[in-house]
Amino acid sequence: TLSCKIGPSVLNADLSQLYNESQKLIDSGADYLHLDVMDGTFVPNLTFGHPVVKCLRTKLPNAVFETHMMVQNPLQWISAMADANVDQYTFHIEPCDDVPLVCRKIKEAGMKVGLAIKPGTPVTCVEEYIDMADMILVMTVEPGFGGQKFMTDMMPKIEILREKYPTMDIEVDGGIGPNNIDVCAKAGANMIVSGTAVIQAKNPPQVIQLLKDSVNK
Ligand code: DX5
Ligand code: ZN
Repeated sequence: TLSCKIGPSVLNADLSQLYNESQKLIDSGADYLHLDVMDGTFVPNLTFGHPVVKCLRTKLPNAVFETHMMVQNPLQWISAMADANVDQYTFHIEPCDDVPLVCRKIKEAGMKVGLAIKPGTPVTCVEEYIDMADMILVMTVEPGFGGQKFMTDMMPKIEILREKYPTMDIEVDGGIGPNNIDVCAKAGANMIVSGTAVIQAKNPPQVIQLLKDSVNK
């Protein structure tokens, strides 16, 4: 059976305290850290890149890092993120003219491959690359910002993927929290990204546990 994991996003955390905030999330029960890398071109926002991820890695040598590459040129950052010992390199297929090449380079760099699709991108676009991927990320918000509203109409995409690829890791990301985790779990997602709902929680460990209990049902 698939392992179900919770990977909080640090995007809406106090980024001046990125290490402490990350440590807190791990201590709160996070299975991995979802690091939102934005280049200001693929999405109209700019966050951080490999220099920050490398420094974070020196302080968190054992944490599992997933970088969510919301970038126009995913090929460009593979080696730098591999130098930071990133575990999973998840990129958007929309700006890519050679997805297989990017997948190959990620694997050669020793990282796992995640393929991400925006809400407007049909599942069929990612199916042709399914054999090259370790995980599929179905966005439940338009990428670029934390704190947006969860898009329930993305659930059929997850149902289709889960039905066709029962052992594939399927991640959801955007607007997820206690009030919609059951819908995600029911659709078949097994990797859950949650940012604001965890970061702004009075009791983050409790929220992470609730998310875990829901997907492990
Ligand atoms: C949005 C990012 C998401 C987002 C999740 O572009 O990819 O990871 O930060 O944060 P919430 O849970 O606040 O939507
Ligand atoms: Zn993300």
